Amino acid sequence: MATFETTTGRNIGEGVRRFFHPVGHFLFHPAPFGGYRIMTHDPVLLGETLEIMRPRPGGRYLDATFGGGGHARALLESESGVIVHALDRDPAARSRAQGMREFFGSRFSFHAGNFDELDELLPPGRYDGILFDLGVSSFQLDDAGRGFSFRHGGPLDMRMNPEEGPSAAEWLRTATREQLVEAVRDFGEEREWRRVVEAILRARQSKPLESTEDLVRVVESAKVRPPRKRAPAIHPATLTFQGIRIALNDELEGIRRALPAAFERLEPGGVLVVISFHSLEDRLVKRFFRRLCGEPEHAGDPVPRQLKSRRAEPITRRPIVPSGHEIARNPRSRSSKLRAIRKLSVHDEEY
Ligand SMILES: C[S@@+](CC[C@H](N)C(=O)[O-])C[C@H]1O[C@@H](n2cnc3c(N)ncnc32)[C@H](O)[C@@H]1O
Repeated sequence: MATFETTTGRNIGEGVRRFFHPVGHFLFHPAPFGGYRIMTHDPVLLGETLEIMRPRPGGRYLDATFGGGGHARALLESESGVIVHALDRDPAARSRAQGMREFFGSRFSFHAGNFDELDELLPPGRYDGILFDLGVSSFQLDDAGRGFSFRHGGPLDMRMNPEEGPSAAEWLRTATREQLVEAVRDFGEEREWRRVVEAILRARQSKPLESTEDLVRVVESAKVRPPRKRAPAIHPATLTFQGIRIALNDELEGIRRALPAAFERLEPGGVLVVISFHSLEDRLVKRFFRRLCGEPEHAGDPVPRQLKSRRAEPITRRPIVPSGHEIARNPRSRSSKLRAIRKLSVHDEEY
């Protein structure tokens, strides 16, 4: 427990103080026996997200990827009376959300499910801001039993919702060559995809891949090229794990379906913020935002600008990336990119 005695922090109601420090953003909660308890969860690009969303007292916000609740909590604590609805497809997030429900009461609600069904999952109404912080949470990565990480030995599962669909082990047993190529080459962007795919096909003929260690061994034995000069040093299995996870959880299709539904749920003037962690997600977000802003979606976009409608304006011209301080404190933030748009009011829309 840390005692925080000065008045440096801004009092933001219910005895909670927010404290900005050069290396990050901390939240201090009253501890049961006096002093303050520091919340240690480290949400990515938190200060930047709040700066862009600028929660207003009594405003309504949606956190479409609750995870450990770091962003949701910060939104709730930013201004008085803020309401947050949160979604997550991982049933484990529900118990973390329970504690927040007790703390914030009716200002907070959690809805279990996939954000690509947000319209069905959420109560009616529009939001002043919606956040997507894509990918997997530290809770999922650090739990060996979930099988997301090549760093921990565990069952090869990788499902964001372990109650739905096949595990990675089951999927790898029956995936066709084309499915494996899509996962490893297209979603993982693994340079040595041919070797990795062939090695998986060969290995599963003698013994099914059951654990994260099994998959790591197969990938390591397949790869022969030295890492690119000046490329960040990553584990040889990083990209294969990423690609299989994206395929298994149908992540890109989910984002493609969810973003338009989320945009429709914004109030005029409302803000849509998306934090992505790899280039495929970021490309989807960038193109969707450009389309809404009436801009060419990509270099070869054949539709002339004057034929495009404009329903939003960009808030970030270039993606916001974490500071060196944030990366040093939380290395997992290093590949994150934040993009945001603001919905125009109907009379400002251009068709
Ligand atoms: C990076 S974490 C979010 C961390 C969160 N912002 C925080 O501060 O703790 C991403 C979360 O989104 C969830 N998620 C990913 N895809 C989802 C989807 N299609 N529908 C609902 N939740 C999803 C994951 O289960 C994970 O808990």
